[in-house]
Amino acid sequence: MEVRALNYTEDLKGDVLLFVAEDKVEEFKWPNATIRTLCEAQGFTGKLGETAFLSYLEDGCETPRQVIVGGLGKSAELSLEKVRKASAKALREADKRKVKTLSMIPWSLDVLPVVDVTRAVTEVALFVGHRFDRYLSEKKTCSLDSLQICYEASQEVDVIRGLKVGQTLGKTTNMARDLVNEPGNYMTPKQLADEAIQAGEQYGFDVEVLEEDAIEALGMKAFLEVGKASVNRPRFIIMRYKGNPNQPEEVLGLVGKGITFDSGGLSLKQAQGMGAMKSDMGGAAAVIGAISAIAAEHLKVNVVAVVAACENLISGSGYRPGDIIGSMAGKTIQIESTDAEGRLTLADAVYYTVTKEKATAVVDVATLTGAAIIALGSTTTAVLTNDQALYAKLQSASEQSGERVWQLPSFPEYREQNKTAYADLKNTGGREAGTITAGLFIEAFVEETPWIHLDIAGTAIASKDQDYLAEGGTGVGVRLLYHFAERFM
Ligand code: BES
Ligand code: MN
Ligand code: ZN
Repeated sequence: MEVRALNYTEDLKGDVLLFVAEDKVEEFKWPNATIRTLCEAQGFTGKLGETAFLSYLEDGCETPRQVIVGGLGKSAELSLEKVRKASAKALREADKRKVKTLSMIPWSLDVLPVVDVTRAVTEVALFVGHRFDRYLSEKKTCSLDSLQICYEASQEVDVIRGLKVGQTLGKTTNMARDLVNEPGNYMTPKQLADEAIQAGEQYGFDVEVLEEDAIEALGMKAFLEVGKASVNRPRFIIMRYKGNPNQPEEVLGLVGKGITFDSGGLSLKQAQGMGAMKSDMGGAAAVIGAISAIAAEHLKVNVVAVVAACENLISGSGYRPGDIIGSMAGKTIQIESTDAEGRLTLADAVYYTVTKEKATAVVDVATLTGAAIIALGSTTTAVLTNDQALYAKLQSASEQSGERVWQLPSFPEYREQNKTAYADLKNTGGREAGTITAGLFIEAFVEETPWIHLDIAGTAIASKDQDYLAEGGTGVGVRLLYHFAERFM
């Protein structure tokens, strides 16, 4: 869907979307009666997500004008996420009514900053119009193909800015959604690396891809163990964007879990639902999307995004439960389960990011534990951190993006669960507090660097259609990390 900004004029032509708050339905008039009077027959009261539809013939026109009225709830309680939800409802309604071009009049939205509202609406317009239909012989088409956001002269700068950032975030989030939705037979480690290279060319960042001999030379023993059983050989993907060359020593590291398919290995997963493990590179998709958005918007921050991409399969050459393996950091690890593979790849990837790329803060993003889904469900990303000031930045980014996060505790007792008599660490901490022990395993490889761990196992894919995202990959992390990077400038 195309989104444009339109300088508001009194004699606006065509189909219109009016957003109205519950407490403003008496106040606003369109075009001559109050919204309330117009919508009375449909029982429209302005509650969040409510829509009403009006159609009338204007003097001298041959086709009727269609008006969608979207409710926002109480003005005082309006938030950006509510604007996203209301927009999705209204745009879907317009599409259903076969509207092609819709002009949005943002009357009741003025309680929030224009730039944020414009960005949020633009994101949603790009999200609702996007489907993963690459493999369908017959593609469904949307009737609604453009949205015009109307503004007054004084709002021009903010609207143009919000529109631009919204378009970037919409596009890069959709890219991440597609990467997640691609099946494992297509999205191999090599393919993921090629996608990163393409994104680098499109959005303006450097990409370096290491193959096995180079990965081995760096000593990434834990990462290599996980990929041993697959004929689709591993790739180590390094993406660099230098937006703040005046302070080259400040580097934000983003590390994404890139298991292109997770069978569990010898600790085999049950068959039911295994297909969903094509999405075990959701963290990789998030960091590729985020660095793309950061580069596209020329944020003044140095970012290195890293993905240790491999496939966790079964063969005679795979690793086993009971094995004791090495790692780039020199720590030994006893394998309790070959299905706790993500933390092994991330251990080497975060250690590489802080020691070789000299990241001064590092965020890892991973579909890491089923326990995160049990703890927080599919609405909220689980967080562990060793730095509360850094977490405050993440919380503020969470409010801007609408991507929910919640911190779990990292009391010292939890670290005991990762200990064993035979090696420096073991790769599972038992059934209890599985999300916490998985995060704390990664913490052991960050060398005291300020660190945030995002477990997106619950949030990376939606099992059914949501307010503004369809079933499948959500692109979670892209918008969150973009706004986080803004706060890192
Ligand atoms: N990729 C999975 C985690 C996962 C599960 C993501 C469900 C999304 C949905 C991860 O590699 C895994 O298998 N984790 C194990 C860890 C356990 C063996 C300690 C889990 O959560 O069961
Ligand atoms: Mn696994
Ligand atoms: Zn996994």
